[in-house]
Amino acid sequence: MRTVSVQLGNRSYAIKIAPGLIDQLGRECARLKLGARCAIITDTNVGRRFAKAAFNSLATTGFSPSLIVVPAGETAKSLKTVQTCYDLLAAHRLERKSFIVALGGGVVGDLAGFVAATYLRGIAFVQVPTTLLAQVDSSVGGKVGVNLKAGKNLVGAFYQPRLVLCDLDTMRTLPEREFRAGFAEVIKYGIIYDARLFAQLERDLPKLLRREPQTLAAVVARCCEIKSDVVGQDETENGLRAILNFGHTIGHAIENISGYGKFLHGEAISIGQVATAKLSSGLMGLSGDDAGRIRDLFKRAGLPTQIKLKPAQRQKLFAAMRLDKKVSGGEIKFVLAKRIGRVVWGQRVAGELIGSVLDEIGNRKS
Ligand SMILES: NC(=O)c1ccc[n+]([C@@H]2O[C@H](COP(=O)([O-])OP(=O)(O)OC[C@H]3O[C@@H](n4cnc5c(N)ncnc54)[C@H](O)[C@@H]3O)[C@@H](O)[C@H]2O)c1
Ligand SMILES: [Zn+2]
Repeated sequence: MRTVSVQLGNRSYAIKIAPGLIDQLGRECARLKLGARCAIITDTNVGRRFAKAAFNSLATTGFSPSLIVVPAGETAKSLKTVQTCYDLLAAHRLERKSFIVALGGGVVGDLAGFVAATYLRGIAFVQVPTTLLAQVDSSVGGKVGVNLKAGKNLVGAFYQPRLVLCDLDTMRTLPEREFRAGFAEVIKYGIIYDARLFAQLERDLPKLLRREPQTLAAVVARCCEIKSDVVGQDETENGLRAILNFGHTIGHAIENISGYGKFLHGEAISIGQVATAKLSSGLMGLSGDDAGRIRDLFKRAGLPTQIKLKPAQRQKLFAAMRLDKKVSGGEIKFVLAKRIGRVVWGQRVAGELIGSVLDEIGNRKS
């Protein structure tokens, strides 16, 4: 088993990565010295596959779990579902020492984490992420929350879990498209922080796409290490944490304008990262060689790297970028790459330049 520790003073916690961890859930939770009563929050897809094992593991180690199953998909990340969860927690008489297990992808993690952060002014929670994206990104770092009609993640909190268990066996049932989308975040860590990781991804890509457990374990652990390193230095995003948004300004805008469901988040940020690498070549001196390696790796991972936009869509894309939560004082700030493994944040980029880069990546025949 690999263990990564997130250092946040008295809110520090461990991320454990190995196959078979759901069966260890009860034993792992017992070490946290929490109350007996707990609730597993999961979604229909994940619940069908893994809830029984999680439930049994908790029950046989002396816990008294209840199971809350929410619909699969982004729409479950709503205040309405939060309300349903509160009512079920109250019915099951969860108390201050009780805890919540978030068993699922980023949707369940964000939702269950927000419920944990607010129920009785905060009870403990444990993350059991079951998508690649959740294992390398959303389960680590303590951002929890739900969506409003006005936009994604507009209500939330910084609230750290007490433990994260990445059970690699859950990767086996993850749909191919979801797996590849999660891989876009993995590549991101190489670009923003670790040239060696990037080279390893280039080399081991076939094994990783086959989901070979050993290779995957090492990569998931490295990504968690990088994220926890960044979050440990800047928990509430006053500076450095912004580098995790590499490719996301354009990516979020693409998600926004293309209508819900066309692109998965990972697919949109794949296009976003390739475009941002291109911008970085012009503005930061990122070498053509590095920009090419970035584009090629996303391509080889089966992710989209370009988008064709009509002029009206392009206008919408700019408008969406300006509405991004990360914009302050009306200015769009970018994370740009100097070379693979090294980025700088807070860079202003002129609108025309973004437009021309998008044109370029959209029209290239390759
Ligand atoms: N908190 C953060 O820091 C952070 C960071 C990145 C993303 N997010 C959030 O994460 C969410 C996206 O997460 P996601 O990509 O994991 O999506 P998701 O939770 O919707 O999961 C994707 C799909 O896969 C299914 N699934 C999950 N695990 C499975 C498994 N092992 N086998 C088979 N099917 C499985 C789910 O039911 C769902 O249909 C978004 O809401 C996003 O805002 C949060
Ligand atoms: Zn992301």
